[in-house]
Amino acid sequence: MKIVMLGAPGAGKGTQAKMISSKYGIPHISTGDIFRANIKENTELGQKAKEYMDKGLLVPDELVVDLVVDRLAQDDAKKGYVLDGFPRTIPQAEALTAALEKIGEKLDYAIDVDVPDENIISRMSGRRACVNCGGTYHIKYNPTKKEGVCDACGGELILRDDDKPETVKQRLTVYHEQTQPLIDYYTKEGILKEVDGTVDLDEVFNSIVEILEQ
Ligand code: AP5
Ligand code: MG
Ligand code: ZN
Repeated sequence: MKIVMLGAPGAGKGTQAKMISSKYGIPHISTGDIFRANIKENTELGQKAKEYMDKGLLVPDELVVDLVVDRLAQDDAKKGYVLDGFPRTIPQAEALTAALEKIGEKLDYAIDVDVPDENIISRMSGRRACVNCGGTYHIKYNPTKKEGVCDACGGELILRDDDKPETVKQRLTVYHEQTQPLIDYYTKEGILKEVDGTVDLDEVFNSIVEILEQ
């Protein structure tokens, strides 16, 4: 099962991707998590990516595409994967389609988690992210058992640098300009599925499971 998650920043792509990954035993591949791990390790890629991420802009396509194509070639991705945060531009989507065609494969689903902009900013200010494993929580909608500590790995929880309201607004603008066109792209490919992302996160997940198992 090869799945792409679409949706605005804060729509819940990462939350749902993690749930899909654990239910179906396929890897969750998040370009945002890969960049944040590189920033933490202070790699060259991390330094470059940080310049863009802190401004709420997209990292240039050429820094993203090869990274993902290499990741998809690893053994654990043979049985499928859930891509979260990639593709994010039409050139990235075209590069992915071409890379898959080369090996005789194609995506099965592009799932758009639909949440209006009004809901996003408040969601982001309550988000907490694990510095260690990328686990994502919300102080109100998805709290950890112990405050400030990741349920999954015991790591420390932080507010992401790009979750400040001004940066979130910029990310939303970039989303509408550069990423939303992918909804048309995957509609034309015949694999787009839409779910309402404003309801409780277990309800969102139930709608996704229905799509994957119909
Ligand atoms: P990335 O990390 O992908 O960020 P994003 O797309 O902006 O999305 P988020 O991770 O902010 O949101 P999400 O949809 O995963 O929501 P979440 O599940 O956390 O990218 C960061 C940056 O990296 C980009 O800005 C860009 O610079 C760069 N980048 C990454 N990939 C790139 C690419 N391919 N090309 C170029 N640049 C790239 O949920 C949000 C919050 O809401 C959480 O607190 C959660 O607990 C809560 N929540 C989730 N679902 C619900 C619900 N149903 N009800 C209530 N609360 C909920
Ligand atoms: Mg995410
Ligand atoms: Zn963790």
